[in-house]
Amino acid sequence: MFIGIDLGTSGVKALLIDDNQNIIASGNASLEVMRPHSGWSEQNPADWILATQKALQELAREADISGVEGIGLSGQMHGATLLDQSDAVLRPCILWNDTRSHKEAALLDGDPQFRKVTGNIVFPGFTAPKLLWAKNNEVDIFKKLAKVLLPKDYLRLWLTGEHVSEMSDAAGTSWLDTGKRDWSDSLLTATDLERSHMPNLVEGNSVSGGLRKSLAEKFGMKPGIPIAGGAGDNAASAVGLGVASQGDAFISLGTSGVLFAANDGYAPDPETALHTFCHALEDRWHQMGVILSAADSLTWYSNLIGAQTAELTSELGSLSAPGKTLFLPYLGGERTPHNDAEVRGAFLGLEHATDRKAGTRAVLEGVAFAFCDCLDAMKATGTQVTQLMAVGGGSNSQYWLKVISTALGVPIAIPDDGDFGAAFGAARLGMMAALSAGEEIVTKPKIKTIVEPDAKFQPQFEAALHSYRKAYSRVKEMS
Ligand code: XUL
Repeated sequence: MFIGIDLGTSGVKALLIDDNQNIIASGNASLEVMRPHSGWSEQNPADWILATQKALQELAREADISGVEGIGLSGQMHGATLLDQSDAVLRPCILWNDTRSHKEAALLDGDPQFRKVTGNIVFPGFTAPKLLWAKNNEVDIFKKLAKVLLPKDYLRLWLTGEHVSEMSDAAGTSWLDTGKRDWSDSLLTATDLERSHMPNLVEGNSVSGGLRKSLAEKFGMKPGIPIAGGAGDNAASAVGLGVASQGDAFISLGTSGVLFAANDGYAPDPETALHTFCHALEDRWHQMGVILSAADSLTWYSNLIGAQTAELTSELGSLSAPGKTLFLPYLGGERTPHNDAEVRGAFLGLEHATDRKAGTRAVLEGVAFAFCDCLDAMKATGTQVTQLMAVGGGSNSQYWLKVISTALGVPIAIPDDGDFGAAFGAARLGMMAALSAGEEIVTKPKIKTIVEPDAKFQPQFEAALHSYRKAYSRVKEMS
């Protein structure tokens, strides 16, 4: 038996699988995001520990976990968890969708070595510019800084007592030499840090440490069982879906939206605003287009309207052509393809006839158009996407998948019932580390249905995409 723990933005999920990779039990606990100022997004690391304890306790109530042989971790990427010499947390973690450090990001991005060594633009959401922001704005905190950890690596510190990260998440810091899979001393120096501030690095399917005795006793597991390096949440989902080699791709409709393609080699193209990161599997890399508010846009709209998201999507019926109303999902700025922290979202083309359903449709379409921008960026690098699998909470809406498939002109395969997301991928990495097993573990799920693009609506979707793209430059001017 193996456990995968995914530290998401909206909650922690713990998943138990047996030796045949069947899901036996799961435990969940929710998390809140604090937004004290426009563009800020923070969480307290202590809440991650509480939520993980809750999720593991729920798992232990549902199933006997005394025979667990390995654990894998996955988590929201890019967050800056600042620790002092005694591993005490110095301030709330600055999350992946926090854009306060856009000036610092632009400054670092202007230094050519960053794109050259990391293969990526320095985006405001990445970790290095957050540290420069802390240095400029929280001098006393920065002086006490001894270690910087990514969110799931802070959970690892709690579980094992070790400071360790792995390649897929480390690639999102702007401090990793992504081709060499090692920290870059010169990039660290450029932000007044050194290697000693960084955790050690392992591959995602390697052992990073053993479960501490006190926690093993608390949860009824064996002390010292291996904790795998694990992965950033998107690479972990890829492992869960068997997206491991060139030609494999998926779309994730979580808080963020991700279009992910696996690559056999390292071929960065920072100008596209695509991300090129290490995969959680040795000698593999991946590309992704990231939009900051995917399911988050629907959650925002549902709070505004005062209805549950499932209620909003289930009342839509069958696919219809885009109406007059257009939604731009830039609630907290955008990464791919704009790298624009200051643009904000918009509803355009409102009229007397615009009702709640028209609003929902516009939100779903706006997110689909943002994915079209990511797909175009990906195509520009030569990566072909002929089919996608879908994961994430938003993929429970057939209507939304039909909209996305039609807008992208790409079929979307829905896996058979099961949970092939990041926690499952993390459990697989835990299994690989514990058994020293290879990629035979990373199989693809059986497919239940394939959502095909609806050819009759494609011309209308293309026209609406054209308006969406024109609207960005207008809205940008006003943001
Ligand atoms: C990826 C990214 C998000 C987070 C959120 O670059 O920022 O997908 O990992 O889960």
